[in-house]
Amino acid sequence: MNEGRHSHATVEFRHIMSRFATGVVVVTAEQGGVDHAMTANSFTSVSLDPQLVLFCVEVDSRFHEAVLHAGSWGVSVLAEGQQGRASWFATRGRPLAGQFSATASHRSELTGALLLSDAVATLECRTSSIHRAGDHDVVVGQVLAVSLLLPDADPLIYFGSRYRALGPDTAPYS
Ligand SMILES: Cc1cc2nc3c(=O)[nH]c(=O)nc-3n(C[C@H](O)[C@H](O)[C@H](O)COP(=O)(O)O)c2cc1C
Repeated sequence: MNEGRHSHATVEFRHIMSRFATGVVVVTAEQGGVDHAMTANSFTSVSLDPQLVLFCVEVDSRFHEAVLHAGSWGVSVLAEGQQGRASWFATRGRPLAGQFSATASHRSELTGALLLSDAVATLECRTSSIHRAGDHDVVVGQVLAVSLLLPDADPLIYFGSRYRALGPDTAPYS
């Protein structure tokens, strides 16, 4: 991202928000025979009954149009060490054709979206509502199916604008 075109307040906002640690997912959707994908850290769960999740998508991105038209989508939760994959699916302007050729994936029967086969977990979702919020849309989805592929894997973490790994589990919190 070119910070030169952003105001000081925007840079400060981004910097402070970067101190909020998140996991990283790849959201996927199939539209018109083309497989789309986007790295996202805005993903979160919303409701248990019904089961709802959300992610935010920039209105100007290619993925925005794809996911709105598709109406259903997949979420793959990335594991520690998968930062290369996260960077790839966050690269603006990458060719869509063949973008999954270096990524093991399988197709969701429920949504038609590709799911990453080496993800920690996957979710298959149908869009239930969309809320415009500034330069992003909040996309809320009903969860159709969930799958835990790697129950013992640590997640990929995003913090301070960098990919990280969890530290040793030494906290006496449980
Ligand atoms: C760690 C990380 C998290 C991101 N999270 C989001 C997000 O939640 N929403 C979003 O719209 N873009 C997010 N992005 C940026 C998109 O991944 C990227 O702009 C998008 O893939 C651009 O591709 P497109 O215009 O070809 O669709 C994130 C990027 C990174 C590196």
